[in-house]
Amino acid sequence: MTGLGELIQKIERVTGNVIVARDLAALKRVVEARISATHSPSLQAYVDLLQEDPSDPEWRHLVSHITVKESYLFRGHQQFEALASHVLPQLARALPPETTIRVWSAGCARGEEAATLAIVLAESQHLAGHRWTVLGTDVDLSALEAASSGRFGARAVSHVPPPLLERYFIKRGREHELKSTLRERIEYRQLNLIRDTLPVEDGAFHLILLRNVLIYFRRNSQRRVLDEMARALAGPGWLFLGPTEAMWAISKVLLPRELPGCYAYQHPISEPDPEVSRYSSRTKTRAPARDNAEPSIHRTAPAAVPRATPGPLDLANLVGDLRDGNYADLRDRLHAFMRDHGPGPEAYLLLGMSYDQQGDTEAAVEAYRGAVYLRPDFFHGRFFLAESLRGLGWLERAVGEYRSVIGLLSAGGGVPSVYARELALPDRAQVLARSLAALEP
Ligand SMILES: C[S@@+](CC[C@H](N)C(=O)[O-])C[C@H]1O[C@@H](n2cnc3c(N)ncnc32)[C@H](O)[C@@H]1O
Repeated sequence: MTGLGELIQKIERVTGNVIVARDLAALKRVVEARISATHSPSLQAYVDLLQEDPSDPEWRHLVSHITVKESYLFRGHQQFEALASHVLPQLARALPPETTIRVWSAGCARGEEAATLAIVLAESQHLAGHRWTVLGTDVDLSALEAASSGRFGARAVSHVPPPLLERYFIKRGREHELKSTLRERIEYRQLNLIRDTLPVEDGAFHLILLRNVLIYFRRNSQRRVLDEMARALAGPGWLFLGPTEAMWAISKVLLPRELPGCYAYQHPISEPDPEVSRYSSRTKTRAPARDNAEPSIHRTAPAAVPRATPGPLDLANLVGDLRDGNYADLRDRLHAFMRDHGPGPEAYLLLGMSYDQQGDTEAAVEAYRGAVYLRPDFFHGRFFLAESLRGLGWLERAVGEYRSVIGLLSAGGGVPSVYARELALPDRAQVLARSLAALEP
């Protein structure tokens, strides 16, 4: 194995993060800088120097470059709206007033999510009689240092409703600083979700947000992390994942609940709450879909749930965002689009491409499968499915898809994406040539 291959495996063992082909150029740049900074004579010498032990200070330099920090306050606003309208009132009803409500933002990046939680908790009339605290954890010490400062740039606060910005922040030059009344309720700690166990009792938290973290891990790591979350969750507690991270595709420990505009998961020994069950009942009737062999992307597409805020959910806008690399919430918006307009092959193609661009090839495969399931002669969907399968090393299935593409195109059939031009997708001839080349020994 080359030094780089060994390094990629070490990174996955220590952080759980899977390095995929499109991360390689960036990784090489970071590693070259670290080889020079550590005066290592070669890549192999640097890899040997890097200890398996995550407390080795050298990891700090690597981790902040190999983990994705994409976040901003009120990201996934539907989830915060459901928290305010359903989850916090339910917790307030279920827990005696002397109970401190404990909330954990796992994979908190630079504190954007923990700050949002603090604002939503402070705003809740239902929690007026309760104390509450927020714990933010992340593997990346540099991100935690930024989080502890409580300062956020213009982009990070761009989705904060203006009255809340006014109420909870102090403007400091170009940054916004979270007021100390909220900052003092948030504690930050380093925690590697793959290697560490948070030293807390079972059932220590009433609410956990683990959003947009699992997508960077492999299935077996996702399962272990989710089991740990279930252990840390109290009887009436709730877990929120990222909108594209369906837990019932990974683990069956917690119960899926449908809330207005989103899903969440609840501890199985929770008392049924009539207010929440109004929304959950639809989920219960869909529960058998867990064992269905359909791709999880189909299982996760919710039925018509009222959208909290109408937005410009036009597929052409989403195409523009994908083309321009504007990935903020792109997948949430694609899911919302599919909820409103029904799933279609083009939306699944965009979803697959957005996963691909973020390095989540397994999820991309599921999305592309959604596209070709709905439109079997959609050659762009099938070609990208083949490429992703090949990228994952699932060669037999990749070969089958390449053959289908060749069959379609050489018979003069096959339907392209209507957005092929905007997205600079390969044309018929290029797809055919690349598919034939992929089958060469
Ligand atoms: C895309 S950000 C998500 C931030 C926030 N939860 C949100 O949804 O906006 C992913 C975060 O997970 C963290 N992370 C990656 N691997 C981790 C690990 N093994 N343990 C803990 N955190 C990890 C990264 O450092 C990064 O801050």
